[in-house]
Amino acid sequence: MINLPKVIGHRGAKDLVPENTLISINESIKYNVKWIEVDVKVSKDNIPFLLHDDLLDRTTTATGNPCNYLYKEIKTLDAGSWFDKKFYFAYPPSLNEVLSFCSNKILGINIELKPNKGKEKENVIAISNLINQFRPKFQYYFSSFDYLSLKLMRRYMPGSGLGYLLDNSNYKKDFNSIIRKCINLKCFSIGFNKNFINKNIIKLCKKNNLAITVFSKRNIKYKSALKLWENGVDSIFLDNPNYYEKILD
Ligand code: G3P
Ligand code: MG
Repeated sequence: MINLPKVIGHRGAKDLVPENTLISINESIKYNVKWIEVDVKVSKDNIPFLLHDDLLDRTTTATGNPCNYLYKEIKTLDAGSWFDKKFYFAYPPSLNEVLSFCSNKILGINIELKPNKGKEKENVIAISNLINQFRPKFQYYFSSFDYLSLKLMRRYMPGSGLGYLLDNSNYKKDFNSIIRKCINLKCFSIGFNKNFINKNIIKLCKKNNLAITVFSKRNIKYKSALKLWENGVDSIFLDNPNYYEKILD
């Protein structure tokens, strides 16, 4: 049974320090965040590590597709200076390091499966192998916009917690068919952009026993967050964990 918190630190604390790094995760803890979310994909040698984009360009000192780099090369990259020169020492951590970190701090982790195109299976196999070896004592679940990745994760880790994330293309579709897709994969949660959620959708999700997470391009104002929680939303992703006066969980 996964107990989602009211707030999840998005890519750690991405507004305050460079996203998807150990310092970002550490920063979120300072504000009493109990769970963090990270984006995970594999390197050329199939080591799962943290990176949001398909390319290394925006958040590191390298360019191109990370699948062309060994993890020992990725580990040497500066993943902090783009944000602020003082963070030059930050690098893209391996998921293994992140799990150890969460283990020490007893943090829950939402691992978003973010494979580069064509690497869906490698990503899921590498992550599931790592989790099976690691046997986390803390809570975790996998989420993805990529349904194939969720399907693969259901096959490789049959008992795992899965959350289906919806992107803009999903909102044009029949919502009942999306719910069916969640049920077919035994997803326990569904993730929405704040712009696309309303009371009816929340009701339908709840009727189908789906926990609800909400993300947004900018931090959701505290007043809106209170309404979302009140209406049945379980978790809100925050870029700045200091944005609310206090984290309620
Ligand atoms: O799961 C919430 C959020 O992480 C989804 O969007 O693009 O930040 O990975 P993105
Ligand atoms: Mg993400």
